Order: sequence, then C-alpha cells, then structure tokens
Amino acid sequence: MPIKFLGGLIFILLIIILSWLLFPKVRLISQKQKELMNQQEIILPQPSKRSETSIEETLSERRSVREYKDEPLTLQEISQILWAAQGITAPLRGGRTAPSAGALYPLEVYLIARKVDGVEPGVYRYLPEGHKLNRVLEGDVSDSLCGAALRQASIREAPVNLVIGALYERTTRKYGERGIRYVHLEAGHAAQNIYLQVQSLGLGTVVIGAFDDEEVKEVLNLPEEEIPLYIIPVGKIVVAK
Ligand SMILES: Cc1cc2nc3c(=O)[nH]c(=O)nc-3n(C[C@H](O)[C@H](O)[C@H](O)COP(=O)(O)O)c2cc1C
Repeated sequence: MPIKFLGGLIFILLIIILSWLLFPKVRLISQKQKELMNQQEIILPQPSKRSETSIEETLSERRSVREYKDEPLTLQEISQILWAAQGITAPLRGGRTAPSAGALYPLEVYLIARKVDGVEPGVYRYLPEGHKLNRVLEGDVSDSLCGAALRQASIREAPVNLVIGALYERTTRKYGERGIRYVHLEAGHAAQNIYLQVQSLGLGTVVIGAFDDEEVKEVLNLPEEEIPLYIIPVGKIVVAK
C-alpha cells in the first residue's frame, strides 16, 4: 500500500515537472503575472548615453506636440526621459542632469502611466538614487488629470504624463524667499531636458502650466507641501498624411 502511494506521488510529480518543461509559455505568463503584481518598485533599465541626433539638430527641431498615437511607450523610453529630467550623472556627489541651486534638488518627478509596455497603469514617483520608480497610486488617473487642467486633450490622450512637483522648503531653508525663484528656474531646466530628450527619441511632448494646483494635488495624492509646476504629456507623434 505505501509503495502504491509512493508510486502515485512520483507519477504526479513527474507530470508537474514535465508540463513545466514542455509548456514554457505557461511558465512565462505566470512569471509576468508575478512581476505585474509586484510593481510597487520598478528598477528602470539603464539609459543610453549615445544618440544618432546632434544636440544642434535636436534644438532646431524641438516643437511642442499636442497629439499622440494611442500606442504604448517602452520602459526604455521612460527610463531615458526620466534620466534626462533628474537622473544622477555624478554618483559620488549626487550630481544630476539638471543644475540645482546649492545642489538641494527640490524637484520630484512623477510618471502617470496609462500605456507603458509591462507597467500597470498608475502614478509612480521617480527615485533618481537607484534609477527606479515607486508606485504611489494604482490605476489610470489621466482623465482626472486632464479634468484638473482645463480638459486639455493632450493629457488624456498621451500614453504617459510626467508631473514636475516642487518641495520649496528644501531650497528656501537655505536661500529664503529667493529660493522660490530658484525652484522655478530648476523646473525650467528639467522640463527643457525632457523636451530635448523626447525630441531626440523621435517622440512628442508639450509642457502644460495651465491647471488647478489643488485639483492636481488631489488626483496625484501629493503631500500637502508639494506643489505641481508642470504637467508634461509624452507620446508617439501622429505623422500627417
Ligand atoms: C510656462 C509655460 C506654460 C505653458 N503652458 C501650456 C499649456 O497649458 N498648454 C499648452 O498646450 N501649451 C503650453 N505651453 C507651451 C507653449 O504654448 C509653447 O511652448 C509655445 O506655443 C511655443 O511653441 P513651441 O514650444 O513649439 O516652440 C506652455 C509653455 C510654457 C513655457
């Protein structure tokens, strides 16, 4: 009787091992599902430091683009754009792609993902240290974000939006009232980096300043002391026929 029982057990185990080996697709899907369930933190792929386009070409071709294809962006593209905005380029002293008064870094960058390959819709905070994303909200909030910005359609239609938020205290602690000016100048630097990186990737973007601060804060669940300065939709350009 125990031998029969053992034989049955070995048979069942063999079936499980065989199906695992013979149906890799099943294995891959369940692996992907596991990854999707565990998207609290997303380590971004390394950004590229090379490009086919010169900085001069990128500057001369930069334009604001407000219409996008309804197609997802890749995580590689997201990684590149976030790195351009606030990525760390001097790890020892924490220096970033954009300058910062007193190296105090008062800006926070958020990814509002609607359609990104392999990423669940949601709101993610970019963490320059470690070049990763931390999810702060689940689900697609792009329609509510559009509602908070005079219903500007580019926000709802883009596969992703970036939001640049500011924590003034990080800079005014040292520079007083003048720190407010510094924070706004820094948001401009980060936004221009985004414009140029997006252009160089062959994608389209526009910076949006017309929105209700309180509504945006509510939609993104921002901390009380954090003020949104820019909403920046990004997507693939619709080529005119
Ligand atoms: C501070 C600021 C706020 C802006 N706000 C908006 C906006 O709310 N909506 C929009 O569609 N474009 C906005 N823009 C983009 C401008 O309309 C755009 O840069 C301008 O028309 C010049 O076009 P170009 O960027 O293609 O050179 C803003 C630009 C800046 C600098």
